[in-house]
Amino acid sequence: MSKIEPLPQAECQRLFQEHLYQLDPTQPVPVQSIASSLETAGVCCLRGLVTAAEVTGVRERFRDQFSRDDDRPGVGESQGDVQRNFQKLRVGISPPKPMNSRLVRTIYNPLWDEDLFGMHALFRRMIRVRNALLGAAEDFALTQPEQGLWTAARLQHYPRGGGFMSAHRDELIIDATADRGLDHFQLLLMLSQKGVDYQRGGGFTIRDERFVDTEQFCELGDMVVYDSRSVHGVDTIDPQEMLDLETTSGRLVAFVTLYRDLTG
Ligand SMILES: [Fe+2]
Repeated sequence: MSKIEPLPQAECQRLFQEHLYQLDPTQPVPVQSIASSLETAGVCCLRGLVTAAEVTGVRERFRDQFSRDDDRPGVGESQGDVQRNFQKLRVGISPPKPMNSRLVRTIYNPLWDEDLFGMHALFRRMIRVRNALLGAAEDFALTQPEQGLWTAARLQHYPRGGGFMSAHRDELIIDATADRGLDHFQLLLMLSQKGVDYQRGGGFTIRDERFVDTEQFCELGDMVVYDSRSVHGVDTIDPQEMLDLETTSGRLVAFVTLYRDLTG
């Protein structure tokens, strides 16, 4: 296997700027442009839909309310468990397929349970973008499961001093809506900023045998869309520090992935 070299900083920046969309929340989502960015670059950034002040507010509430005592084991929960507010810490490998390893804390926070950190308004904005990309109705699976799918609204916290996710491709999750729009993307909201909340590591993709740091130019409140068929992961967050599982330091992102509803 050939060695994966990092894409030089200047090329990363050029790629980022080329696929950065400054958006107005009152305007339609530019689905075609995003689709072509995913085709050519594998990733793009949507700016202007969530403000840095909104993110800062969420982070403060998360920091104040967080307790490590709320951590549950990384596996073994039912889907009913995570369709409520639920916090788990996952460390280890998940064989056999995909052979993926990680150290990440996930806080499920669905829209029908208590709005713990003021995230619900931001999740709704993410869902609107997701549904536009899917070619689904604007409010698809917004407040309840629909067509056998539910919105797994959640935070992912990669702790300082070791949070990571190994390189992988996403399993195909979305198929009920695939014939109407894109079916191969992931959408995440940046609730932390490289260079501020962590110095090293963060989201990456492998593109043309190059390691692409996808986060170094992102700002708080940016939404990142990437091609879920691409190889991607999270490089270790601040490995030069001691692992900190007691606080909310490190990398924080949000997802609104559609999951198949198995509770019915
Ligand atoms: Fe993934």
